[in-house]
Amino acid sequence: MKTVVCYYSRHHGNTLKVLEAMSAEGDMDLIDVTTRQSVRLEGYDCIGFASGIYGFEFQKAVVEFARQYLPQGKPVFFVYTYGGAKGTGAKAVAEIAREKDCTVLGEFSCKGYDTFGPFKLVGGIAKGHPDRQDLENARAFYRELQAQNGGE
Ligand SMILES: Cc1cc2nc3c(=O)[nH]c(=O)nc-3n(C[C@H](O)[C@H](O)[C@H](O)COP(=O)(O)O)c2cc1C
Repeated sequence: MKTVVCYYSRHHGNTLKVLEAMSAEGDMDLIDVTTRQSVRLEGYDCIGFASGIYGFEFQKAVVEFARQYLPQGKPVFFVYTYGGAKGTGAKAVAEIAREKDCTVLGEFSCKGYDTFGPFKLVGGIAKGHPDRQDLENARAFYRELQAQNGGE
């Protein structure tokens, strides 16, 4: 199963760590949505969208990327990390997937080290996350997703 994940990960690279763990399990390309490139997603079997949670939602660049590039009818999944309050999570990007008749295969999320604003004063929250267990859970999620959708 050839997969691509379009992501935004800036705060501590937490979301990227999760994606790198998943990508060790199979054929997965990673696209940073902030880098300018010509994008063709038609050739992939499955498309993921991933982001840290900023202001209780996915980063807008990921949502706009999905609006612009997600082909009609592709299977999709979502990945995100958050400090402690996931807010609407992947809702905005899921809405776009629905508009494009894409099946949602699943969603993975876990805590991610957060030193935003006042949390910096206390040394941050969700320290050490994603940790070993989070990354193992991420790998298991992607293995399962592949197994249910025609294998590696
Ligand atoms: C500007 C900003 C806003 C954030 N807003 C939230 C939030 O609303 N809820 C939350 O749980 N975490 C919030 N966080 C913490 C991040 O979601 C968390 O650290 C995440 O793992 C960052 O992912 P990244 O390292 O891949 O960018 C925020 C962090 C930043 C920098």
